[in-house]
Amino acid sequence: MPTVSEILTTMDYGPAPEAAGEVVAWLKGHGPFGHYINGAFAKAAATFAVENPATGAVIAQVGQGTAADVAAAVAAARAAQPGWAKLPGHARAKWLYAIARTVQKRERFLSVLEVMDNGKPIRETRDIDVPLVARHFYHHAGWAEMLADEFPGAQPVGVCGQIIPWNFPLLMLAWKIAPALAAGNTVVLKPAEYTPLTALAFAEICAEVGLPKGVVNIVTGDGETGAALVAANVDKIAFTGSTEVGRMIREATAGTGKKLTLELGGKSPFVVFADADLDGAVEGVVDAIWFNQGQVCCAGSRILVEESVAAALTAKLDARLATMRVGDPLDKSTDVGAIVHPVQLARIHDLVAQGQAGGAVLHQATCALPAKGSFFAPGFFTNVAPANVVAEVEIFGPVATMTTFRTLDEAVELANNTRYGLAASIWSENVNLCLDVAAKVKAGVVWINCTNIFDAGAGFGGYRESGFGREGGREGMWEYLALPEPRGRAEPAPEPLNVAPVVQAPRKGEPEVDRTAKLHIGGGQKRPDGGYSYAVMGRGGPSGQPRFSGLAGLGNRKDIRNAVEAAHKAGGWGKATGHNRAQVLYYIGENLSARAAEFEARLRQAGATAGAAAAEVEGAVRRCFYYAAQADKFDGAVHATRSAHVTLAMPEPFGVMGIACPNGAPLLGFLSLVLPAIAMGNRVVALPSQNQPLAVTDLYQVFDTSDLPGGVVNIVTGVRDDLVRILADHDDVAAVWYAGSAAGAAMVEKASAGNLKVTWAVPSRDWGGADGQGREFLRRATQVKNIWVPYGE
Ligand code: NAI
Repeated sequence: MPTVSEILTTMDYGPAPEAAGEVVAWLKGHGPFGHYINGAFAKAAATFAVENPATGAVIAQVGQGTAADVAAAVAAARAAQPGWAKLPGHARAKWLYAIARTVQKRERFLSVLEVMDNGKPIRETRDIDVPLVARHFYHHAGWAEMLADEFPGAQPVGVCGQIIPWNFPLLMLAWKIAPALAAGNTVVLKPAEYTPLTALAFAEICAEVGLPKGVVNIVTGDGETGAALVAANVDKIAFTGSTEVGRMIREATAGTGKKLTLELGGKSPFVVFADADLDGAVEGVVDAIWFNQGQVCCAGSRILVEESVAAALTAKLDARLATMRVGDPLDKSTDVGAIVHPVQLARIHDLVAQGQAGGAVLHQATCALPAKGSFFAPGFFTNVAPANVVAEVEIFGPVATMTTFRTLDEAVELANNTRYGLAASIWSENVNLCLDVAAKVKAGVVWINCTNIFDAGAGFGGYRESGFGREGGREGMWEYLALPEPRGRAEPAPEPLNVAPVVQAPRKGEPEVDRTAKLHIGGGQKRPDGGYSYAVMGRGGPSGQPRFSGLAGLGNRKDIRNAVEAAHKAGGWGKATGHNRAQVLYYIGENLSARAAEFEARLRQAGATAGAAAAEVEGAVRRCFYYAAQADKFDGAVHATRSAHVTLAMPEPFGVMGIACPNGAPLLGFLSLVLPAIAMGNRVVALPSQNQPLAVTDLYQVFDTSDLPGGVVNIVTGVRDDLVRILADHDDVAAVWYAGSAAGAAMVEKASAGNLKVTWAVPSRDWGGADGQGREFLRRATQVKNIWVPYGE
């Protein structure tokens, strides 16, 4: 008879499958699923099969949504929206609470259904996905309750089209629907074609709790259905999925006025310093890249390890891989389940093969894989050349790359050496060092000594090509709210430029004609690269007729490139304290005030009456004081998330921004946009009023005498809409604001799709009025980074 110790060392796990009977009966009872529109399931004209990835068996037939289905769902949402928005927040809160409670009551059912639809292990759906879904609805019931107090004046956006991926089907649904509903919007949601089933079960929950008809509509289908939703009469699109489709949606929505949030791919660094708890880091890797079969947008897919501990970490990871259990996802002891679909499995095989062909060495779990279904053994690559495809491309499978570094600077450089910026995980027992790296890494979420931790109370979302917008917490609520449009004031259209040589002689008592305002780049005055200037025509003639005021440089592509380069070099501005920046802004106000008469004269020459000119200069001085005041006060928060975690929400500057300023209010319009951007630590390339740039070119000296470091504000005059296109195209510009025509805004939004810049088509307004300044400008000038720091031994 074997001894107890022999049994303990030789016995294998016994299978511990979760019962699926209830779910199987539910699926059988439904026959083909239709779309959930206006509170009822409509019959779908055509259906497609949904498979269980772990077995390959067809488990349901689901409707393939047509443009007509989408239109019907949008019409239902449109009809329901005003009534839903008008309800007191408390009433909406009660429904969100009812949904949260019902999700909790169905926790096991939803967990099993998610496993059968997606292939992820029951341990994850039961312990992570579904509890987080309930948490999301609870949290947002709270925002509904507090909406009027916490977001005074804000309105719902309207009808939201929401398109979600297959990796966290029900959780992504909750991330999208809960905040939308809390804010008073109604929704049409399209789940991913591989995983539509929990969304349909959720529709049943909506019906069961008596949610008013049309508030939540669900249309199933593939990318075509998604494209129809993007094109439909909705006020906002919220998308999570691949960067490629995100870019298409950015282009498709350009110029439509639809609000947009994109949560896209990532290639997130997982940085291990020599003094890290290596065993902790190994478990971190398990959660970073083998969790959910690595099909996680924020997966820690690039392990960067300090060279001195690389061998030790590799050995520990190899040992850990040997214990990983891949198999039936319904089994409670399975670590790694099935890949969502054979197409995704083939993609992973292909990328891994390319990685190996490029010389990378694959370390992989050796356990036997089930004979049926889409399974891939987890692993990681060593010996990865920087140019290897697996070093750059999102594998979206359970395979990380490992690269070594020697110094902190090198770690940061490698971490940021990607076009993405979704997340980062940093491991060291020295929290000072972790926070230092957290500040330097370009990512929307940073986990210190932890990874893949989510909570409804913290914002989630990316920098750079990982998209824009946040989901969760206060910052996520803003994505579903809009402030009332400012009262519009027609902007004068840009006038055609006259680049012919000017022959007019100077007249007595007027500014000198032969003075040519240059460009302002890197803190110095630069002649335009093309060598051309254009005549600025004021309105200073006896009855306001055009009269020559001076010459302004005609900037071109090269000037913009130089200006962007100079702005990048001025990175120290972003690291300066708010207090330091405030002092510079106060000083600009002080110097502007001292030269008020000169600026007033300039504005009069541009056509302003004496009173209007004085008011504009006075307004400009006040704006300097306002943003100086805000520079050290528009700050972040510590979110209430998990126990024993501090979650710091820090607004960070984008880096380099392009700003096309309004054509009217030449001085105040310019400062109203440039000051909030630089108050938050951005450096800008600003394009002043095309018709009247001279009030801005006069500012060069004010900037120079106000200790504004060179390169923080770069000014290029010329054909504003041509120049802003170059900025919108530029890969080293992170955000563009454009105050101009609708056609210009559409052009900027479309051109920005290249590197998925954040854009803001600034609505026209009275720059001298209350709409000319406010926290909205500061919110638009920043992106929130959430840093998670666990504490306790
Ligand atoms: P995808 O981006 O095509 O699919 C995501 C969602 O967008 C699905 O609901 C899909 O039906 C919809 N969609 C597709 N084309 C559309 C269009 N033209 N207009 C509107 N909606 C559209 O992602 P896919 O093909 O499922 O996966 C491909 C790769 O994308 C993965 O290997 C992975 O690298 C990445 N991905 C990233 C995700 C993330 O969370 N960041 C999630 C899913 C995929």
